[in-house]
Amino acid sequence: MQIEHFINQIDLTLDPPAEEPLRQYYFIAKARTLVAQMEKEAGRKMTFCVNTFGCQMNARDSEKLCGILNAIGYQESESEDADFVIYNTCTVRENANNKVYGRLGYLHGYKKKNPHMMIALCGCMMQEEKVVAKIKQSYRFVDLIFGTHNIFKFAELLVQSIENNKMVVDVWENTDQIVEQLPNERKFRFKSGVNIMFGCNNFCSYCIVPYVRGRERSREPREIIREIENFVADGVVEVMLLGQNVNSYGKNLDQPITFAQLLEQIEQIEGLERIRFMTSHPKDLSDELIAVMAKSKKICRHLHLPLQSGSSRLLKIMNRHYDKEQYLTLVEKIRAAMPDIALTTDIIVGFPGETEEDFEETMDVVRKVRYDSAFTFIYSKRTGTPAAKMEDQVPEDVVKVRFDRLLKEVQEIAAEKSAVLTGQIQDVLVESVNHQDDSLLTGRLGNNSVVHFPGSRELIGQIIPVRLDECKGFYYIGSRA
Ligand code: 5AD
Ligand code: SF4
Repeated sequence: MQIEHFINQIDLTLDPPAEEPLRQYYFIAKARTLVAQMEKEAGRKMTFCVNTFGCQMNARDSEKLCGILNAIGYQESESEDADFVIYNTCTVRENANNKVYGRLGYLHGYKKKNPHMMIALCGCMMQEEKVVAKIKQSYRFVDLIFGTHNIFKFAELLVQSIENNKMVVDVWENTDQIVEQLPNERKFRFKSGVNIMFGCNNFCSYCIVPYVRGRERSREPREIIREIENFVADGVVEVMLLGQNVNSYGKNLDQPITFAQLLEQIEQIEGLERIRFMTSHPKDLSDELIAVMAKSKKICRHLHLPLQSGSSRLLKIMNRHYDKEQYLTLVEKIRAAMPDIALTTDIIVGFPGETEEDFEETMDVVRKVRYDSAFTFIYSKRTGTPAAKMEDQVPEDVVKVRFDRLLKEVQEIAAEKSAVLTGQIQDVLVESVNHQDDSLLTGRLGNNSVVHFPGSRELIGQIIPVRLDECKGFYYIGSRA
């Protein structure tokens, strides 16, 4: 409500202020008057729909977009048949791009029927020049395109787009700017993602992220703490700290601080009960972090530790800065400090030049580490990355066979691992009513596994003990303990 009051006080007869975030609040106020006008013409409320592709980082960015759209006076709708539709895109693998082009066709159909409808595209895919060129040429009906670096400018771009009546494109190549204290929404009342840093400096040779999300920038610890304290005051009990490589957090701040030190500060926040984070690069995971996790009462016993490949030869070409032995030693160290920790990972199959022997090394690590779950990906060639220029791209049929072998192994181990907890009582954060059966609730264990159990919706947002009665492979059926 404080924000509401602040926006109402803004004098739109003045020029927009130069400094952020004040400038964006000015444009939020301005957009309000324009949207109110549209409502008058249409005789109804204006609606919006944000469709998010890709990772948690994008999910959090979408919450920022929703916050701004709400502040402007749009009402959220589940359907893409809305007055403002925005796709927050991902480009980490090629098929993500194709999905967006496919869906734009549908949106055009809606737009032809609704004169108020606007379509915006943002996110990682828009950082690619050839994508923007293609949209300008073949998808002229899109109203607004922006990238990953200027999300904070959304209100200003929206005003431009409404006033101009022609496609507005604003994509920045890079930035060192972090704009704090803009409106944002949370999808869940009781948990939230929290950006601690943006960008990536690692340049793994297959990965497009450093090109579309720019260089590493960390938020100031006091801004992170302030945001989490506000969330907790508003009912949040669990936070997920987000960064492409959280283990290098704080290195480039004026007053450097380690990720482990940040975690210790966050641990002190009263009322906060669970802390998660992702993603950890194995090359930067420190002993200090392991020690802080091991003694913490709030940091969940779960670590996502992308392997990518088990072959030391390929890891070198991938530019990962660790080899198979170092990875396995790290896992041993983590397990020695926290025997009950759940480990999950990302693995790529079919990186250029991958031989049967390389692949067997990956299978060997999977069997040795015994992951609680793993995301497995077929290598996707991303133009602009070093790997795209490498010879020996592995034939599709060979990759498919390896991928299926890997998936089978990963799934068998995951099922065996989750069976171990059957019969135990665990603390569970109740997240939602079960989508298929509304007599059941769905919640998450500290190790990130899911359990369904009978209960009423008042429990949503609470952490309660649940007995894991039956293991179904990837999830449990339980009962209140
Ligand atoms: N092809 C396949 N998978 C990729 N990833 C990143 N780039 C590619 C690519 N070009 C995977 C990595 C990363 C996860 C988020 O996506 O495993 O950890
Ligand atoms: Fe991509 Fe590697 Fe950065 Fe992860 S660490 S975002 S895989 S470049």
